[in-house]
Amino acid sequence: MTESKHHYDERSIEAVYRVIHERRDMRHFLPLPVQPAVLQRLLDAAHAAPSVGLSQPWRIVRITSAELRERIYDLVQQERQRTAEALDERGAEFLRLKVEGVKECGELLVVGVRDGGTREIFGRRTLPETDVASTACAIQNLWLAARAEGLGLGWVSLFDPQALADLLGFPRDVRPIAVLCLGHVEQFYAAPMLALERWREPRPLSELMCENHWPAELPGAAE
Ligand SMILES: Cc1cc2nc3c(=O)[nH]c(=O)nc-3n(C[C@H](O)[C@H](O)[C@H](O)COP(=O)(O)O)c2cc1C
Repeated sequence: MTESKHHYDERSIEAVYRVIHERRDMRHFLPLPVQPAVLQRLLDAAHAAPSVGLSQPWRIVRITSAELRERIYDLVQQERQRTAEALDERGAEFLRLKVEGVKECGELLVVGVRDGGTREIFGRRTLPETDVASTACAIQNLWLAARAEGLGLGWVSLFDPQALADLLGFPRDVRPIAVLCLGHVEQFYAAPMLALERWREPRPLSELMCENHWPAELPGAAE
C-alpha cells in the first residue's frame, strides 16, 4: 500500500470524517438567528461544489419575508397531506413524523436547479439529471459546513414544485428542488430521525455494493 503524500494532517482527516458521520437531517430548531458571516461562509461552501461541465446550475433564494415563509409552510403542509394519502396504510404513521422545521428555523433557503437544456451539453448529453446531481453536491457542501459550524440543516422536499416556482417567480428553466431549514439546534439527533422513529432501518453498505457484475442475489435489485 502506498500512502499519498498529499494527505491532510491526522486531526483534519478526522474532522472530515467526523462531520460526514455526525451530519443529520434536522427538523427541530431553536428560534435564534444565524450570524450573517456564518451564513456567507455556508453559501460560499455550497458555491464551491463540483458541477457538470462547470455549469453551476444551483440557484439559491434566501427567504427573509415572514409572509413568504408562511406561504411556503402552507405548501409543505398541503404536500404532507397528499403524501399521507398516497402512503395508504402508513399514512397516519407518516403524519406523526416531524418532516420539516420551516417556521422555527433561523434561516430559510430555497434551492432551484437551472435546466441546462441544449445550452449545456458537456456531461449532460446522455445524463441531463446531472443538473440535479450538481445541485445536490452544493446542498451537501452547505449541510456539512453547517454541521461543522454547529448549525442544523433540514432538506424539505415536500412541496409542489410548480406552486413554489410560481410563488417565488422562478423563470421557466429553474425548478425548485429543496427548501432548506437552517439554524441553531438544542442537540443533534444521534442517528437519522427516521431510524429513531422506526420509519425505516438504514441498510449496510455491504448490501448496496458489489464487484464487477451485479449478482442475482444483491438485495435491492427488485426494489
Ligand atoms: C433529496 C432529499 C430530500 C429530503 N426530503 C426530506 C423531507 O422532505 N422531509 C424530511 O423530513 N427529510 C427529508 N430528507 C432527509 C432524509 O429523510 C434524511 O437524510 C434521511 O432520513 C437520513 O437521515 P440523516 O440525513 O440524518 O442521515 C431529504 C433528504 C434528501 C437527500
